[in-house]
Amino acid sequence: MFGKRAGGPGKPKGTRPAPPSLGSLGGQPRTGARAPAAGAPAEARVDAGRAEDEARRIAATDGAAGSSDHARSEEYYDVKSTVFNALIDTIDLTQLAKLDAESAREEIRDIVAEIIQIKNVVMSIAEQEELLEDICNDVLGYGPLEPLLARDDIADIMVNGANNCFIEVEGKVVKSNVRFADNSQLMNICQRIVSQVGRRVDESSPICDARLPDGSRVNVIAPPLAIDGPTLTIRKFKRDRLTLDQLVKLGSISPEGKTLLEIIGRVRCNVIISGGTGSGKTTLLNCLTAYIDEDERIITCEDSAELQLQQPHVVRLETRPPNLEGEGEITMRDLVRNCLRMRPERIIVGEVRGPEAFDLLQAMNTGHDGSMGTLHSNSPRECISRLESMIMMGGFQLPPKTIREMITGSVDIIVQASRLRDGSRKITHITEVVGMEGDVVTLQNLFVLDILGEDANGKIITRHRSTGIARPRMWERAEYYGETERLAAALAAAEVTDDSGMPLGEKNV
Ligand SMILES: Nc1ncnc2c1ncn2[C@@H]1O[C@H](COP(=O)(O)OP(=O)(O)OP(=O)(O)O)[C@@H](O)[C@H]1O
Ligand SMILES: [Mg+2]
Repeated sequence: MFGKRAGGPGKPKGTRPAPPSLGSLGGQPRTGARAPAAGAPAEARVDAGRAEDEARRIAATDGAAGSSDHARSEEYYDVKSTVFNALIDTIDLTQLAKLDAESAREEIRDIVAEIIQIKNVVMSIAEQEELLEDICNDVLGYGPLEPLLARDDIADIMVNGANNCFIEVEGKVVKSNVRFADNSQLMNICQRIVSQVGRRVDESSPICDARLPDGSRVNVIAPPLAIDGPTLTIRKFKRDRLTLDQLVKLGSISPEGKTLLEIIGRVRCNVIISGGTGSGKTTLLNCLTAYIDEDERIITCEDSAELQLQQPHVVRLETRPPNLEGEGEITMRDLVRNCLRMRPERIIVGEVRGPEAFDLLQAMNTGHDGSMGTLHSNSPRECISRLESMIMMGGFQLPPKTIREMITGSVDIIVQASRLRDGSRKITHITEVVGMEGDVVTLQNLFVLDILGEDANGKIITRHRSTGIARPRMWERAEYYGETERLAAALAAAEVTDDSGMPLGEKNV
């Protein structure tokens, strides 16, 4: 299939000195044209040369760590390097790139098996498979990242330069054994990732957001901005998306809290999900959208499409960064404003972080009940002030009191998510925005999380409870949707009383 493999007439091998490690292959030189052959355009030759150089460098280090993330012996790297070098002497990378992934893999598999045989490398079948996987990942995929990307238990992959890769597993950030050949291999992989969504990352545009084909969110920041080498952050897409039932199993919310969230989703409350970085906001937003009726037209606006709505009538929109000339940017605000002309019944904003807050609030109180968004903040109270400052910073000439009134008139519920220090993610507050007292927005917690202590394994012991409010502000909505009984039952069941039989009240509002 490839010039180099086919035994047909062509330049004999030797247009380039064979690497020393190929000694044992030397007895059986391959013939066949080395493509791009000497007659090929100079550019193609240069490209192929570059690709090969990169490939050789990659082979010299930890490639993909197979299906696991274990450290490899030096011997393994030696063998890999030898086989890899022989492989790229044998195949034509430019031609390989034209094949679909499956055929390319097959091609590599055949040649690697042959090389192993010729070189008399002693390996078990399992080791061979691992080596093969490793090499395929380097040539065809995202190199050392592949095994991490294949694991569904990883939430985040954080690569800080070639030799430092951290992953988040079960809420804890740990260092991974994965490493890259050098920063230019890492940069190449970053480039490979972002070019799939038509973007570019290099010194002149060193910041880039992208998405992997599986939906994982990617951010790249390259030198000179990132001082210690290209820095890649991937929020892994969960193939099995978390549902509210699973959040209950994980202890993120109690069964009664889940009922409350279901009702909130169903009865078209306007919701802001608040929380710190990686606290589970997007996951929670996804869960809440599951309770939206099937016949509603939903429009989602995101910087990088992460939400996985299951309803049949969903329009997904994504922002666009400016191009190199600084043109063509489509901001979140542009999207939210455009939404309003698309006859939405609900608008969902992946993350509110700027002046689009104003448009979302307007949408919320102009007939798009049940709109939702997430926002970075550490408490429901802070969420209100963040909203306020986003609107102020957006240049809207409104007095603070008017902005607060606008917030009160728009947002019904704030759900606060938090990542506790033991790595667990919890819903810490389900809070209603009640109204204004003078200049101050009043909030009322319906559900809170109490921290009770810590067990012997360092796990934080918590308890979800309702705060004893029997008639929340959302009562009327619940009535309209026939949900009052469920609502009252959930609130009553989650009540906790003190020694004197009085319900424990609110806290931290
Ligand atoms: N309750 C939970 N229990 C366990 N894992 C969770 C929980 N909620 C979310 N996760 C996992 O935590 C990771 C981060 O979640 P998510 O993307 O929802 O956070 P986020 O707050 O939106 O983050 P960011 O601020 O970066 O947008 C994901 O891998 C997700 O699967
Ligand atoms: Mg998010």
